[in-house]
Amino acid sequence: MDRITGGNVMSAYEQEYNWAQSKPEEFWLNQAQNIDWFKAPNTALQTDENGIERWFPDGELNTAWLALDYHCEQGRGEHTAMIYDSPVTGVQKQYSYNNLRDQVAKIAGMLASEGVEKGDRVVIYMPMIPEAAMAMLACARLGAIHSVVFGGFAPNELAVRIEDAEPKVVMTTSCGIEINKVLPYKPLVDKAIMDSRWKPDTVFVLQRPECEAELGQERDKDWLSAVNQAKAHPCVPVKATDPLYILYTSGTTGKPKGVVRDNGGHAVAMKYSMSAIYNVPQDGVYWAASDVGWVVGHSYIVYGPLIHGCTTILFEGKPVRTPNPGAFWRVCEQYDVDVLFSAPTAFRAIKKEDPEGEYLHQYDLSKLKTIFMAGERLDPPTLEWVQTKSNKPVIDHWWQTETGWAIAGNPTGIELMPVKAGSSTKPIPGYQVEILNEAGEAQAPNQQGFVALKRPLPPSCLPTVWRNHDRFEAGYLGQFPGYYVSGDGGYLDEDGYLFIMGRIDDVINVAGHRLSTGEMEEIVGGHPAIAECAVVGVHDDLKGQLPLGFVVLKDGVDVDLNELEGQLVGKVRDEIGAVACFKHALVVDRLPKTRSGKILRRTIRQIADGEHYTVPSTIDDPTSLNEIERVLG
Ligand code: COA
Ligand code: AMP
Repeated sequence: MDRITGGNVMSAYEQEYNWAQSKPEEFWLNQAQNIDWFKAPNTALQTDENGIERWFPDGELNTAWLALDYHCEQGRGEHTAMIYDSPVTGVQKQYSYNNLRDQVAKIAGMLASEGVEKGDRVVIYMPMIPEAAMAMLACARLGAIHSVVFGGFAPNELAVRIEDAEPKVVMTTSCGIEINKVLPYKPLVDKAIMDSRWKPDTVFVLQRPECEAELGQERDKDWLSAVNQAKAHPCVPVKATDPLYILYTSGTTGKPKGVVRDNGGHAVAMKYSMSAIYNVPQDGVYWAASDVGWVVGHSYIVYGPLIHGCTTILFEGKPVRTPNPGAFWRVCEQYDVDVLFSAPTAFRAIKKEDPEGEYLHQYDLSKLKTIFMAGERLDPPTLEWVQTKSNKPVIDHWWQTETGWAIAGNPTGIELMPVKAGSSTKPIPGYQVEILNEAGEAQAPNQQGFVALKRPLPPSCLPTVWRNHDRFEAGYLGQFPGYYVSGDGGYLDEDGYLFIMGRIDDVINVAGHRLSTGEMEEIVGGHPAIAECAVVGVHDDLKGQLPLGFVVLKDGVDVDLNELEGQLVGKVRDEIGAVACFKHALVVDRLPKTRSGKILRRTIRQIADGEHYTVPSTIDDPTSLNEIERVLG
């Protein structure tokens, strides 16, 4: 609907955007009315003791209530809440809202019997099975704070998170299942707890038939027997500003950042996004083909669709080889999926194995309305391929663990704007996106700079880093007063379309997984033969980026270079996990550096990607660049 103001016709998007920008408190209090509070908020925004704006400070609610009980109370208890589709085990199962609520209430009772209360932390290290989502919701039911750790991370990563979150309980399974391999989880959990200074009181282990775990420690408890003995636990009211979860994400150092998500702002933003961005009806079927270990999984496998009352799909498989590149389309047809959301890398994998879309054409996709992508930039060839083959609108949207929902996108529920390849379209109502230069000055259209968000940030965005507020201030707020810096570079064009050009820090995206090259450097640099090293993310046609290491040996070290590379690859795999995809380390005599000793990682990456580059004026020794070119052959 267009409205005429002072001679200008405002589009539906502009109206909504302007409302959120000019009267954010009114706008968000209005959106807050769409969820079922225990105590509805009267105050929209208040500054907390750290000077951070907080949403709905006087509101009380329970996120699990909104996701489950509320729908049962509304007479929608028999509606399907969750579909579990697991091509790797051959299992397909459906859960109604009543059923899911009852199971979650019992799991909450099981946690409560181990002393878990409001504010306590629970670490969840589980693959893509329904109990992972149930565990999250059970924590939410108790007002406990969950921290889900992606199942592909190695024990060291789990240990770091356990040590930081200090959970009373860890919830896990006996194994995860990847294509053609069963990965025992319990030994990884035992190792992580052994290496962590913090020891949880209890570890609940859900036994899976593919590989049973030995419950050898005193703290180990069999999940199924415990849940059978547990009493259903009611929803515990929490303040809107109480944390719902901590989700660790890669920063520039080896220590991941614990992004804190509050209950109230998150629930309101989830509810708003389901209509405004995804345009999915309440009884629609929504499928985010991601993993509960990532923010996409938190927001759009678990909370968003359930708060909205949809059917969500939890898929334990891959886009290809499960058993073929038709897996996504099969699921869409079988369950009448309205909205599909995944990472561009997943579609590149499908395109590689089914370039003509022969599998796609075997399925009836008439119910599928829109395909959304995020996690990395949607490259124009992939956009074009998916659009042409599926004949559906394909929407790129840009967001981060820190925000929990899209910062920029094409809000299809407000107005489907024309798509520009390479752009994630426009800022979502509530976000004020600006492009700043080093001095913090706004850039003209089409000029690249730091992509920054003017405060206050909308609901759901992080208010702090878990137990490290200084890191939040220093990493996000300190650079430009009044702004949050996203860590991404990019520009706005003359029509206000946002183009995200990639990270400007040491974070890379490998197959939609956010990883820190700084952390990889710490691991590689810890090898006794290595004097110093640089890890950069180089372009990869399938995974978007892959890490590549450049190492300088200590003087006098005499090693077989193939053996050394194998050791470094093994070390990164052992300490971060196979998902890091660190496969190569090249030995150089020296690394290119500035005169003040900073490694010129950007220039190294440009050389590795075969891009045109200018020799930085601050370079100490220009011949060091020849050395990089030499090893790259
Ligand atoms: N548990 C244990 N190991 C895991 C894992 C998990 N949950 N996820 C991945 N791994 C392992 C893989 O088995 C593989 O191990 P290998 O080196 O021994 O073969 C390694 O980590 C790399 O995995 P991945 O990067 O996923 O590569 P792949 O070749 O198996 O699959 C894609 C490639 C593109 C199909 C896959 O990465 C994908 O579907 N990506 C979508 C990502 C996504 O959903 N991102 C979330 C944001 S929306
Ligand atoms: P994560 O926190 O794991 O969701 O990763 C967030 C980062 O992924 C962002 O800072 C971007 O670098 C990148 N990213 C996510 N979505 C997009 C997108 N649509 N376009 C470009 N980059 C994206």
